Amino acid sequence: MNKWFYFNFLLFSFALYKIINGSHLLVSFIGGLGLFFILFNWTRHAMFSTIRSDIPRKTKIKYAKFSKRVLPIHKWTGMTAFIIIIFHAYLAINLYGFNLSITKIFSGMFGLIILTGIVIFGWLRWFKASYIKRIIHLWLGLLLFFVIVVHVLI
Ligand code: HEM
Ligand code: HEM
Repeated sequence: MNKWFYFNFLLFSFALYKIINGSHLLVSFIGGLGLFFILFNWTRHAMFSTIRSDIPRKTKIKYAKFSKRVLPIHKWTGMTAFIIIIFHAYLAINLYGFNLSITKIFSGMFGLIILTGIVIFGWLRWFKASYIKRIIHLWLGLLLFFVIVVHVLI
C-alpha cells in the first residue's frame, strides 16, 4: 500500500485522539469532520501514486476502476469539507476571538486560505484542465496536509 494511506490514517487517528481528550467538543468535532472529508479527497493522491507504482497490472486496474467511481463525488466532498471548515472557523472564532497570535487560530486560518485555493483551482481544473492547474491543485493539497499536521499537533 502507498505510504500516503498510512500518513492519512495516522493524522486522522491523532486528530481523533485530540478531539476525544479536548475540552471544546463541538468545535473539535466539527474540525474532525472537515478533516475527514479533506482526507477523503486527499486519498486520491495515494490512489494515483499507487496506480503509477510498480504493482501487478490486475491491482492497477482494480484501483483505477475504483478511482473512476469516486471521481464524480470528489468535487462535492471537497465543497462539503470547505463548508464544514468555515463553520468550524466560525465556532472557533466565537470561542477565542479573531486572535492571530493564538497559534491554533493562525495555523487554522492559514489552512483555510490554502483550502480556498484548492477549491478555486479544483473548479478551474474541472471547467478546463491544464498541467499548471493540476500541479497547483496537487501542491496546495500537499501543503494543506502539512499545515493541518501543525494545526492539530499544537
Ligand atoms: C484547514 C482546515 C482545518 C482543519 C482540518 C481543522 C481541524 C481541526 C481539528 C481536527 C481540531 C481538533 C483537534 C485539536 O484540538 O487539535 C481543531 C481544533 C481547533 N481549530 Fe481547526 N481546523 C481547520 C481550520 C481552522 C480554522 C480556519 C480555525 C480558526 C479560525 C481553526 C481553529 C481551531 C481551534 C481554535 C481549535 C481548538 C479548539 C479547542 O479549544 O479545543 N481551525 N481543528
Ligand atoms: C478538500 C479539497 C480537495 C482536495 C484535498 C483535492 C485533492 C485532489 C487530488 C489529490 C487530486 C489528484 C491529483 C492528481 O492529479 O494527481 C485531485 C484531482 C481533481 N480534483 Fe480535487 N481536491 C479537492 C477539492 C476539489 C474540488 C472542490 C474540485 C471542484 C471541481 C476538485 C476538482 C478536481 C478535479 C477536476 C481533479 C482531476 C480529476 C482526475 O483527473 O482524476 N477538487 N484533487
